[in-house]
Amino acid sequence: MKPRYVLGISAFYHDSAAALLRDGDIVAAASEERFTRKKGEASYPVHAVSYCLREAGITSNDLMGVGFYDKPLLKFERILDTYLATAPRSLRQFLVAGPVWMKEKVFTDRQLRDALGYEGAILYAEHHESHAASAFLPSPFDEAAVLTIDGVGEWATASLGVGRDNDIELWKELFWPDSLGLLYSAFTYYTGFKVNSGEYKVMGLAPYGEPKYVQLIYDHLIDLKEDGSFRLNQEYFDYVGGLRMTNGNFAELFGGPPRVPETRLTQREMDLARSVQEVCEEVMLRMARTAYKATSLDNLCLAGGVALNCVGNARILREGPFKRLWIQPAAGDAGGALGVAQLVWHRHFKQPRTLVPGRDGMKGAYLGPAFREELIEAFLTSVGAVYHKLERQPLLEATAKLLADGRIVGWFNGRMEFGPRALGARSILGDPRSPRMQAQMNIKIKFREGFRPFAPSVLRERVAEWFELDCDSPYMLLVASVKKEHQIPMTTEQRKLWGLDLLNQPRSDIPAVTHIDYSARIQTVSRDTNPDYYDLIREFEKLTGCPIVVNTSFNVRGEPIVCTPQDAYTCFMRTHIDALILGPFVLHKTEQPTWKETQDWTREFQLD
Ligand SMILES: [Fe+2]
Repeated sequence: MKPRYVLGISAFYHDSAAALLRDGDIVAAASEERFTRKKGEASYPVHAVSYCLREAGITSNDLMGVGFYDKPLLKFERILDTYLATAPRSLRQFLVAGPVWMKEKVFTDRQLRDALGYEGAILYAEHHESHAASAFLPSPFDEAAVLTIDGVGEWATASLGVGRDNDIELWKELFWPDSLGLLYSAFTYYTGFKVNSGEYKVMGLAPYGEPKYVQLIYDHLIDLKEDGSFRLNQEYFDYVGGLRMTNGNFAELFGGPPRVPETRLTQREMDLARSVQEVCEEVMLRMARTAYKATSLDNLCLAGGVALNCVGNARILREGPFKRLWIQPAAGDAGGALGVAQLVWHRHFKQPRTLVPGRDGMKGAYLGPAFREELIEAFLTSVGAVYHKLERQPLLEATAKLLADGRIVGWFNGRMEFGPRALGARSILGDPRSPRMQAQMNIKIKFREGFRPFAPSVLRERVAEWFELDCDSPYMLLVASVKKEHQIPMTTEQRKLWGLDLLNQPRSDIPAVTHIDYSARIQTVSRDTNPDYYDLIREFEKLTGCPIVVNTSFNVRGEPIVCTPQDAYTCFMRTHIDALILGPFVLHKTEQPTWKETQDWTREFQLD
């Protein structure tokens, strides 16, 4: 029988993306930002869609159905309703959001058809249905409780339900403007970081602070119920009718105006970060308990932007009551493209779900473009790069040696990851044993704040020897402590240090990936999903006895993760990365011609 294809799209809000299924199997998925090089790209994902179709070797005429990840009219209704309820205070926001909505978003159907050149069925799911579908349908479970938590979709900001066989059912929702994602974003804004992308920084900053403001948050901002539902006191926020997240009352409550972005971080921001993180975890735990009570199932699936809070996820896993947890790697809105495609396939077309025991359907999240060796070589030649081609085994050995010698390596290998984390396809790697590696990578490579922690990629079968974790964490969405025997206890002198002064104190045998509270955001690496990356870490272990490498995304601050060989070479040349492994080619920085910033090759590229 001819294969049947379903395309899912998320667009026009943030993190546009496309995902394609062939007979229910995920063939390709990618975020538009990787192609346009604009972080959080919100426009129609023209490149991501065309990549997905190309990967499958089809055109839009071959599609059996198309799904869109939310209901634009419902979302418009929320915006209009908010406007009417808060006018004239919200007039300015409406003027900003309104005309764009009118013009572009209400007419999504026509727009999608025109862009795709497609006249078949287009189905719309609700935003949280798309998240929930992306959490359950690719999971390894035949039955699970499902929890989605984010900023806002149409009206819902969180939902709870169940996934069974080939469908999901949502039982409970929490509605705008009561949103855990937006509460977290309010603190992200107030501590001087960018809303929608700076939330990670708040989470990374939290362990440096004290939970000083927790009570204040409970007393004034959030009325949290036992079941995890809550009301936010809108007297302190400005996002409903204004253009900012917080208002003057919020500033008064926390003793001053928001931190001006890029100014010095103080203990206050760290305490604020720690406080909102604790509240966030408490809400997540209560919601998880409610999901358990409602379903009595042992499995929980998570998605929505808040599911990227790996500290909160780990607490759910540790403190139960669920036995197993699966989190969609593209937990943010990009993942909605995948969720809706699966809903269209399983719910609309009533297709069964095939489960492979113990394995999810994400293929390690390596669902983006790969590049043929000839194309990479043609590119390298065209820019006069100096490179050495190696066979697989010598390449892995040479890379492991570079890492063991303390070099920082750009690792570009196979298909690009889907979701915000680099998982060993577009990664910058280093030696976790080096006490200088964290500062060096943050400042000289990523050009970002020195406090930002790095994540370890560890061989799956070794994870329990190094960390307090003994399950799969393939998508870097769980944290756990470094094992006691690998920790370096703090001296009395060090205990006296506060905040960022603690940063340069080695905390373990693997200081570059050990956070200030001895935690690490772990990626377990299995040979069946990424054999090259797995074997590279094995080679590193042979040389050093350490089955772990530092893994950070291949990009610089504020830029999307690299997609093409061109992107990778540019990033390599602009930073202090020592060596670049581009498919089978090794490039050493010292051998490269002088980099000219004006060099501007076309971003047109061909794919495998
Ligand atoms: Fe969302």
